[in-house]
Parts: sequence; structure tokens; C-alpha cells
Amino acid sequence: MSTPKLLLADLVNGANHVPSNYIRPISDRPNLIDVLQTSQTSIPLIDLDALNGPNHSHIIKQIGLACQQHGFFQIKNHGIPETMISNILGIAREFFRLPESERLKNYSYDPSKTTRLSTSFNVKTEKVSNWRDFLRFHCHPLQDYVHEWPTNPPSFREEVAEYCSSVRRLVLTLLEAISESLVLDRDYINKKLGKHAQHMAMNYYPPCPQPELTYGLPGHTDPNLITILLQDDVPGLQVLTDAKWVAVNPIPNTFIVNIGDQMQVLSNDRYKSVLHRAVVNCNKERISIPTFYCPSPDAVIGPAPELIDDDHPEVYRNFTYQEYYEKFWNRGLATECCLDMFRSTSSAFT
Ligand code: OGA
Ligand code: NI
Repeated sequence: MSTPKLLLADLVNGANHVPSNYIRPISDRPNLIDVLQTSQTSIPLIDLDALNGPNHSHIIKQIGLACQQHGFFQIKNHGIPETMISNILGIAREFFRLPESERLKNYSYDPSKTTRLSTSFNVKTEKVSNWRDFLRFHCHPLQDYVHEWPTNPPSFREEVAEYCSSVRRLVLTLLEAISESLVLDRDYINKKLGKHAQHMAMNYYPPCPQPELTYGLPGHTDPNLITILLQDDVPGLQVLTDAKWVAVNPIPNTFIVNIGDQMQVLSNDRYKSVLHRAVVNCNKERISIPTFYCPSPDAVIGPAPELIDDDHPEVYRNFTYQEYYEKFWNRGLATECCLDMFRSTSSAFT
């Protein structure tokens, strides 16, 4: 007798149909032929090197505009070496190729676990499953979590720890630039995050025999502050721009940065946490590695007082990140943004 499969990759290996619990209702399918396939720069590509030169204020302006208009931008000259990028993608690929019994050592359904391998989004609460397996773990402060991480591939802990520290440095630079773009003190956002937190995921999207019926991840906004996404060379990420889904096709050695719900709150709605999704394809597996930078659970988040005035009343109430995060995982991925549950009572009727 065979045991039921917990992970998608083991369930569908070689399948020629999507199992029924992955099939979306007709009104909720990706409509792949309607997706805009524009040029590579469908969202702005910003050169971070120029932050250190005479064009500093021009780059700050570009970042501010991208956060306002797209909620997304891509970055080059970000300081993370190409070898580190190819190593981390290689480690993720190797991890998902390990034998089932080895991968399952990390398996858990429970979103509150700080290191876990799982599948779909939240298996306990969702009705339709997503075409994804993922390894998710906390990574700041490193010494609190590294001992929980997988030990296979053997270099996992060492290489991933280096990557996390580099991405954290990059995030801190971006937070200064974003604070500056909002005309706040450069350390304003940094100081609002309590002790800070950093989570990372390795998403594995297996090839799918009928990609028009299902999602890797359906449309959602990210609940955290800011996300730094690394994707391999297989397309799949799409961003909602002017009510149309636009493909963000991979550019080697760049990262995609997106504004999360907490940044929308801090900026009192100046900056947008925008809907995005991952679709799958028939031929190729796809790997993406998002870093979710967050406030620590006890940090109190609310609109910056400097951004509230008669023309811009306070849009959200204050809350702890823990309160927000629990709501996010329990309600499932829904197109309506979780932010609506935190609107300030004074703005709810305007
Ligand atoms: C996410 C996400 C997109 C992708 O993990 O929140 O949006 O391309 N991922 O994997
Ligand atoms: Ni996301």
C-alpha cells in the first residue's frame, strides 16, 4: 500500500492531468492569453549604484515614483555578487531534488513553525490547492534560527546564512532610500520595525500539464514590509498594472522589489502594495526565492504622523505586526487585501 503524498512534486511527477483539487472555478482561472507580454522593463529597472553618486536625488525620485505607481521595481548593481545568486538558486534546486524521505524531514502544516517545508499556501484552510511546494524559514537574527534549517544539501546553512546577511544589508539601504523618498528621516522606517524580522522562502513550481486551470500562487499582496524576490530564468511572475496582468520576465542578476502591506500602512497609502501572482507552465520547473522583510511581531505599525494632514487623513489604525500576520495566514490568499480589516474607523466611511 502506498502512503498519500504530502508534497506536490511527489504527487504529480509525470502526471498528464491536474488533480481535481487543483482546478480553479472557471471565473477564477489565469486567462493566460490575456496577459500582457511587454518588453523586459514592464516595471522600472533602477540602478542602485547611482545612489552613491551625483544622481542620488534622481534615483530617490525614481524609487518613490515606482513605489507610488507600480508598487514594484527591479534593481541592478545591488551589491549581491553573481556567484552568490547562482549558488543560492543551485542550493534551492538541489534541495527540491532530494529524495522524498529527506525533504519530508522538514514537513509541517503549521504556519507558526519558524522553519518548514509545505505545499500550496495553507493546506488547513484553503479549498483549492496551488501548484507549489515551498520551504519557508526565519533568518533574522541568524543565530536564533540557523540550527533549525535543513542540513542537506550540506552547504545549505553556510551559503543561505551568507545570502541572508547580504540581502539584509541591501534591504537596509532600500529602507533608507524609501524613507528619504517619503521625506521622512532616513532611519524612520528602520526604527519603526522593532527588532526587525526576516523570513525567506524557496518556492518550487513543478511543470504542470494544464497550466490554464491552476495557479502557482493566486493574486495576493505580501503582508510584510518589503519583498526582495530572486527568480530563476523561467517566467511566471505577473503583476496587476492598470487592471491588467503583466508578465515580469526574468532579467539575469537582478532582483524584484515589491512594497508590502506594512509599507502601504506606514506611508499612509502613498505607496501601494500591489496584487501579483505566479503562474505555471507545461515544460519547466520554476524556482523563486523571496526574502520577506518584516517588523518584529511586537512592533506597532501605523501611518507616519508626518504623512497625515487635512488632505491625507489617517487611513489605518495602529496594530501589532503579530495581529496582522495571524489574520493574513488564517484567511487564505484572497484578492481583497487584508489591509481593509485595519482601516481607521474615521476613514472607513469616507
Ligand atoms: C510570494 C510571491 C512570486 C513568485 O512568494 O509571495 O509572490 O514568482 N512569489 O514566486
Ligand atoms: Ni508575493
